Amino acid sequence: MTRPVARTDWHPASWQSLTATQQANYPDAQALDRAVADLARLPPLVTSWEVDALRDLVAKAQRGEAFVLQGGDCAESFYDCTSESIVAKLKILLQMSLVMLYGLKKPVVRIGRMAGQYAKPRSADMETREGVTLPSFRGDLVNRNPFTADDRLPDPQLILRGYERAALTLNFVRSLIDGGFADLHHPENWDLGWVGHSRMADRYHDIVNSISGSLDFLESITGRPLHHTQRADIYASHEGLHLLYEQSQTRYLKHRQRWYNLTTHFPWIGMRTTALDGAHVEYFRGIANPIGVKVGGSMTAESLQELIGVLNPNNQPGRLTLIHRFGAAAVEEGLPVLIRAARATGSPVLWVCDPMHGNTESTADGTKTRRFDKIVAELEAAFRIHREMGSHLGGVHLELTGENVTECTGGARGLSDGDLARAYKSSVDPRLNYEQAMEIAMRIAGLHLDNGR
Ligand code: PEP
Ligand code: CO
Repeated sequence: MTRPVARTDWHPASWQSLTATQQANYPDAQALDRAVADLARLPPLVTSWEVDALRDLVAKAQRGEAFVLQGGDCAESFYDCTSESIVAKLKILLQMSLVMLYGLKKPVVRIGRMAGQYAKPRSADMETREGVTLPSFRGDLVNRNPFTADDRLPDPQLILRGYERAALTLNFVRSLIDGGFADLHHPENWDLGWVGHSRMADRYHDIVNSISGSLDFLESITGRPLHHTQRADIYASHEGLHLLYEQSQTRYLKHRQRWYNLTTHFPWIGMRTTALDGAHVEYFRGIANPIGVKVGGSMTAESLQELIGVLNPNNQPGRLTLIHRFGAAAVEEGLPVLIRAARATGSPVLWVCDPMHGNTESTADGTKTRRFDKIVAELEAAFRIHREMGSHLGGVHLELTGENVTECTGGARGLSDGDLARAYKSSVDPRLNYEQAMEIAMRIAGLHLDNGR
């Protein structure tokens, strides 16, 4: 294997000498420098001990002793940084994790795509509408969505606004959790209000009653409250796409003798930025966080092995998560190749399935959607393929919302293409709505609605 880049001196800005794809073109370099300097002065959003705790949990999931639920919006929006939206996201993650805990009989590690999921990769730098060409929308961290020249100009101040909103989001999540919102004794706090009668709601309430009953039973026989079950932690994650944003809060912690990205617990490298000789891989190799890498059909066995070597040279447990996203049609052929390749390195990885990004399609009128059946098909195939190969799927990565949007078709309510216009809110990829997300959780837990298990 040849290493494409001589990797010696890493520092938070060493990526700058390599090609950084998917970065915005800021018109005013000085204004950008000022914003980045301002960002670097602010306190971090997370702490190194939380980051280390999550790495240990990922290591547990690698050993098959825990399961990771990673989920949230495709892109968070500044506008949706509201109490209602944050509470709804927290509730859906908590409800899903409860169902999964019940069915899988192992701890569920909750990682939100939240508090920083503001930058988006785009397939084209420019967008043309009716003869007018403007920079593509790259997420609220970079520019604004309306199709005007002013809105599409990258604005460095948005980096600061994004960081502040990430802080507001995390602050609220932490307060809710500290205040007992996530107490497993009181899952009634998380009810999102099932619409009309739903068989899933009945099933969910049975599970809640059964878990509360077991907790009460255990506590009464031990005479002690179960501290660990009282608080359900939620970790933050986002795609580490905007490298100046990531770099600004990358700190050397003397007591640990390592560099940490303290904008989030778990940053991941998106599918479009996994080039071995690229800036993203260079940046990520130097931080101590547990990290994810999206992999799919375009990743060869050799590239994956080299990536693993660069990103986890010491084979550290918990360090590396591979999030595969092939699409239902390609997973059978593509996944075994990568499982074999990773295994041959001897380095531990956590396998997580993202059944969303390989299953995006457009309806006749051009609306981006995903079919529930394909999402389920990819997920079920992933579980089976890992099992058949003596590997195991240790987590799932989903785009979802606690709201009743109509963005993906199918599911228990049988949404069709014609329903999409009713409540389509995402400005980027289509998300599972509340009931669709719960249905996925039930299936992962092995609780199919029709077999009554
Ligand atoms: C995403 O997770 O929103 C995304 C863009 O995914 P991918 O990098 O896998 O295409
Ligand atoms: Co997406």
